[in-house]
Amino acid sequence: MNTDGKAIKLAPSILTADFGRLAEAIRAADEGGADYIHLDVMDGMFVPNITFGPVLVKTVRAVTRLPLDVHLMVEAPERYLEVFAEAGADILTVHVEATKHLHRTLQQITALGCKAGIALNPSTAIEAAREVLPFVDQVLIMTVNPGFGAQQFIETMTGKVRRMRRLMDELCPLADLEVDGGIHPHNVLDVIYAGANVIVAGSAVFNEKGSVAANLDTLRERMLMDA
Ligand code: DX5
Ligand code: ZN
Repeated sequence: MNTDGKAIKLAPSILTADFGRLAEAIRAADEGGADYIHLDVMDGMFVPNITFGPVLVKTVRAVTRLPLDVHLMVEAPERYLEVFAEAGADILTVHVEATKHLHRTLQQITALGCKAGIALNPSTAIEAAREVLPFVDQVLIMTVNPGFGAQQFIETMTGKVRRMRRLMDELCPLADLEVDGGIHPHNVLDVIYAGANVIVAGSAVFNEKGSVAANLDTLRERMLMDA
């Protein structure tokens, strides 16, 4: 539980996993107690990197029953909502910076039967989300600039998480607050104390240093230190 009594969820991002053995990596995360699988879709336009599309989401869907948390780092994501929903996404998160008619986009996600998420880049003010908060199931605060795994956590984002949770308590108290980028055992508790309850972790889970199960255990041990 975090400070508002919300269950804390761990959402491993597969970005730094070995894609040659992806099914194994997903199974290891599932058996290791992950709550979601976080899938980073990048289009080479919204962010300076290209990853994968609905075909891979469908492949992951066939390997696990965990909810698929699909983070669309894509310009005009409204063009692709339906294909990602069909591929098996459970949560579809769009960037507030990437779509002109955000409210409509969120309605489209909900109509597809998915949970609707919005993501904010580090430089985007929390106010940019205010008018749509009553329509979201999840808010994602980027704690690095999107585009790559294994970047350094931007320290000023902890205060942003705290301010966003306060605004959400007013406008969408049931919605989850997710953090993404540079989260490791040494800082996970800080973001939880600030109000985050969905924790994305890529390189802290899929790395050369330890097994997926051991890395998830280490993160969870640190998360459970709150009481
Ligand atoms: C960055 C992605 C993240 C990334 C997190 O654009 O949205 O999900 O994979 O990776 P780490 O935890 O290594 O920063
Ligand atoms: Zn992500």
